[in-house]
Amino acid sequence: MCGITGYIGDKKAAEVLIDGLKRLEYRGYDSCGVAIINGKNELYLRRVSGRVDALDELVAKDPVKGGFVGIGHTRWATHGVPSEDNAHPHTDCNNQVVIVHNGIIENYLEIKEKLSKTGHKFKSETDTETIVHLVEEKLKTLHVSAANARADMLEPVFFEAVRRAIADLKGSFALSVIWAKCPNMILAARQHSPLAIGLGEGGNFIASDVSAFLKYTKKAVFLNDGELAAVKAPSVSYFSFQGKKLDHSPVTIQWDSTMAEKGGYKHFMLKEIHEQPGSVENTLRGRLLPLKGDVLEKEINLPTAVIREIKNVQIIACGTAYHAGLVGRYVFENFALPASVDFASEFSDRAKIINKDTLIIAVSQSGETADTLHAVKEAKASGARVIAITNTVGSTLTREADYVLYTHCGPEIGVASTKAFLGQMTAMYVLALHFAVIRGNIFDTDARIYVDELLKIPRLIEATLAGEDNILKIAGDFAGSEHFLFISRYINFPIALEGALKIKEIAYVHAEGYAAGEMKHGPIALIDKGMPVLAIATSSKMLQLVAGNIEEAKARGAEVIAIVDEDSREHIKASKYIVVPKTLEILSPLVNVIPLQLFAYFIALAKKCDIDKPRNLAKSVTVR
Ligand code: M6R
Repeated sequence: MCGITGYIGDKKAAEVLIDGLKRLEYRGYDSCGVAIINGKNELYLRRVSGRVDALDELVAKDPVKGGFVGIGHTRWATHGVPSEDNAHPHTDCNNQVVIVHNGIIENYLEIKEKLSKTGHKFKSETDTETIVHLVEEKLKTLHVSAANARADMLEPVFFEAVRRAIADLKGSFALSVIWAKCPNMILAARQHSPLAIGLGEGGNFIASDVSAFLKYTKKAVFLNDGELAAVKAPSVSYFSFQGKKLDHSPVTIQWDSTMAEKGGYKHFMLKEIHEQPGSVENTLRGRLLPLKGDVLEKEINLPTAVIREIKNVQIIACGTAYHAGLVGRYVFENFALPASVDFASEFSDRAKIINKDTLIIAVSQSGETADTLHAVKEAKASGARVIAITNTVGSTLTREADYVLYTHCGPEIGVASTKAFLGQMTAMYVLALHFAVIRGNIFDTDARIYVDELLKIPRLIEATLAGEDNILKIAGDFAGSEHFLFISRYINFPIALEGALKIKEIAYVHAEGYAAGEMKHGPIALIDKGMPVLAIATSSKMLQLVAGNIEEAKARGAEVIAIVDEDSREHIKASKYIVVPKTLEILSPLVNVIPLQLFAYFIALAKKCDIDKPRNLAKSVTVR
């Protein structure tokens, strides 16, 4: 999420930066800006709320004089609404030090409070601005008198100030910093957020991904976590956060720029499926510990008293977000808080019977879905309080809701929702666990078990993704099928629904998701010879029953493709197996949905469908 560009060399920085931002716009596009050091060592800063085209126009009207070093940013808001003030680059109190940042600084409130006490004035609501004031503060403590110093003498001081500032940060960041007093160097750093350095003729580049500079050079160095780069026009030096010098050999990129935007993947959907370990990490980041702490309370402002008072939870959402809501219902009920779920479009009548005892959880990736917004309004009119789970800062839903929990998954471009679904489910676990701790429904030791296992989920998703080739092969065997059934029980029943929705929307094939136990009450009549039935049969208190339902389907000719884990496999007799890593049953949807997303993707690929923009659909449905 968010796109960073940086350039130092013999070309006009404005052109290089804006061209790069246009290529990075898929990473975020709610606001953008550039900061360039002009020929007189003054700062040229231009920012807009909106797209890079608007920034391009602004810069063209009032061009920078000279200017061969600068940084740029296109934003996907995480802290602070999309606006010009919150747009990057951000500056220190004296408009001398300037930063662009991608990621989330977990301890920014703490740092901001300390810096405010020492007189720093903040101009935005972002976590990013904290970093630039911190660099300014570190420069002060290094006692430099920059007024008459030569720029090259200031370089080690600037480096040290940035290095020390970084040491105080908790969270994830890719950042680039410039200092007007030191115009021959850009500093770049990476911790859990990608950053690449492009090595060109006559100048060097910085970018969140190589698509921003491939037009100029195909030679790149990818910074590792914990590394800093001092980027100058003739050369680049690399360091650890401890200041130790490092060596890096450049790699040659074979992609063209469109491939690079998709990270080398054929479609955004596939890229987003592969980004899911990171999206889960981003949704969890800084929110689980300390258990009884006020981490979440501070962030979402939901008073503990409200959490204790409410009698039940009502979830409203549409499509994939509704499936996340169904998972959420099981999760809340597991922690002894009654919960129900409705399609937002079917909520009207139920809205009349709720009141302030109900906490509404409205789930929406875009935060702009008309059905969800309408349902929220109706719920509020009945006196209920509303918390939004959304991926989109500044969306209408965030303004309608009383409280907001962001999923922080970054922009989802593929119309078929994948990583946002993982983020929505993860947010449900975070909230339900938080509520359970506050309401005293769970012992701390038990809560720790869930926390520890949740923290392992990103690695389990990675292991599941590593089995992609097996899924491709199985999908190839069934690409000609006209009907698919997806079955499971309990908390994986919504995953069966989601598997069916994915294949319907991107491969245009008829599919049904069913509660496995319901099959015998009607739908089993659909099964005849060779019909593919995807059964989620990972370790569960319901496993024997699911095994029985699989036998019933097979007896009618179904070809069963079973999603199993290493322990459940021996209990399931199927035609094909997709083995996923085992986790706690309650968390298993986070892993089990991955093969179904890939399966739908490969079926759609075989059918040559327009995967990122399926027919008749829109990413955000703003009509009722
Ligand atoms: O932006 P939202 O999460 O509110 O969108 C809700 C649905 O329209 C959305 O999940 C839709 O079902 C997806 N295309 C499914 O992949």
